[in-house]
Amino acid sequence: MSRAGIILAAGMGTRMKSATPKVLHKVAGREILGHVIAAMQKAGISRIVVVSAPGMDDVRAFATAAGADNAVQDRQLGTGHAALCAKSALGDFTGAVLVNNGDMPLAEAGMMTDSLASAEKHGLSIVAFRPRDPAAYGRVIVDADGMLERIVEFKDATPAQRAIDLCCAGTYSAANARGFFGWAARLSNDNAQKEYYLPEVPLIARADGVRCSVTETDEITVMGVNSRAELADAEGQMQRRLRALALANGVGMQAPETVFLSYDTVLEADVQVGPFVVFGPNVRVRNGAEIRAFSHLEGAEVGARALVGPYARLRPEAVIEEDVHIGNFVEVKKARIEKGAKANHLTYIGDARVGAGANIGAGTITCNYDGFDKHFTDIGAGAFIGSNSALVAPVKVADGVYVGAGSTITKNVEKDALAVERAEQKQVSGWAEKFRTRKRAEKAAKAKK
Ligand code: UD1
Ligand code: MG
Repeated sequence: MSRAGIILAAGMGTRMKSATPKVLHKVAGREILGHVIAAMQKAGISRIVVVSAPGMDDVRAFATAAGADNAVQDRQLGTGHAALCAKSALGDFTGAVLVNNGDMPLAEAGMMTDSLASAEKHGLSIVAFRPRDPAAYGRVIVDADGMLERIVEFKDATPAQRAIDLCCAGTYSAANARGFFGWAARLSNDNAQKEYYLPEVPLIARADGVRCSVTETDEITVMGVNSRAELADAEGQMQRRLRALALANGVGMQAPETVFLSYDTVLEADVQVGPFVVFGPNVRVRNGAEIRAFSHLEGAEVGARALVGPYARLRPEAVIEEDVHIGNFVEVKKARIEKGAKANHLTYIGDARVGAGANIGAGTITCNYDGFDKHFTDIGAGAFIGSNSALVAPVKVADGVYVGAGSTITKNVEKDALAVERAEQKQVSGWAEKFRTRKRAEKAAKAKK
């Protein structure tokens, strides 16, 4: 069965007090709009139209990249008017349509398919929920059969209506898109906000003899984001959901409530995550690896049984192969650390390859940037880089090389050689004792005066 989706995203989101359109604010590393589009796609809705306002080029670019079409609502005359703006983008489409507010980051495919199935049975359906705090949501009034009587916007509601705990989620389904647009076109704006309210479509449908069913869902799935506080709340809820999923998939976490995940974080079974670890977008950690406390990872891959942290930072394009150890205060960026290599303390490895089994001493720095360009450092398998060495890229240290501690390496080093670059050590016998004796005598003479 062919199904289309309309996402309403033209609202200014004024309550966010932000120059960024509301739907482009992120939850778990992904734009709110991205979450809604992904849920629709998962629900089998292939044809999606995002309705945005004239200035919102970034919203349209985002929608296009995510595989959706665009429609523009020239003036923000309300949610009902916004939905109608998607009509021409859907052309002669006559299948079922699901309209969803764009500010619903925790939207799930199941909630959408339930709603569509109910609309396909009854003609029209809305999603409702019972939040602990009904706040300013529209209130849902049902009849004795549990069918929708009407939705009253908070601003239009009487005190008695405000006491109703069943609320409008902002998800609407109609069995036939043409019929839906016909009803939306007949909305009036005779209400407190002088807006064309989408929640009033069922009232118009009823005049045509079509009743609207109500499917209920939990308050987390459909929570709307209208302010910074609600965005933070949504983030917290999403984190809870992602942590629960990770735990269910066999990830070990000592203190899950302190671990922050991204929408796309992949942690395989038997990965162990310590407290206060942050996963930015695009991270994969393979079986049995351990990410210790206070580490920060983004755009990185960690191989099986690798140890990372505590206090490690893996930046985009860090590839940590199996059995590698990345220790405290080690930063890796755009570098492949091959099987079994170790960088255990205080090191920066950027734009580099570290060969299998190599040992990178404490304080080693790849000097990859000359102020204009980035350059590559190639460290061979089994190499031993002494502590506090600087490797000035571009430079190649071949397999099996020893670099003496404190060296600044600017030239390539051949296989199995020793490279030391530092002034020769000098020893002056008895100097320290003579120095102390002279100093003590000087102090004593001064004290007598
Ligand atoms: C809306 C519903 C309310 C429901 C709540 C659920 C209406 C009138 N009210 O209220 O019943 O309980 O969502 O979260 O629909 N938008 C446009 N064009 C416009 C106005 C809004 O595209 O002219 C978009 C917004 O970008 C947003 C969505 O529609 O994504 C909802 O608008 P918002 O202002 O957040 O409505 P609420 O006050 O939350
Ligand atoms: Mg809203």
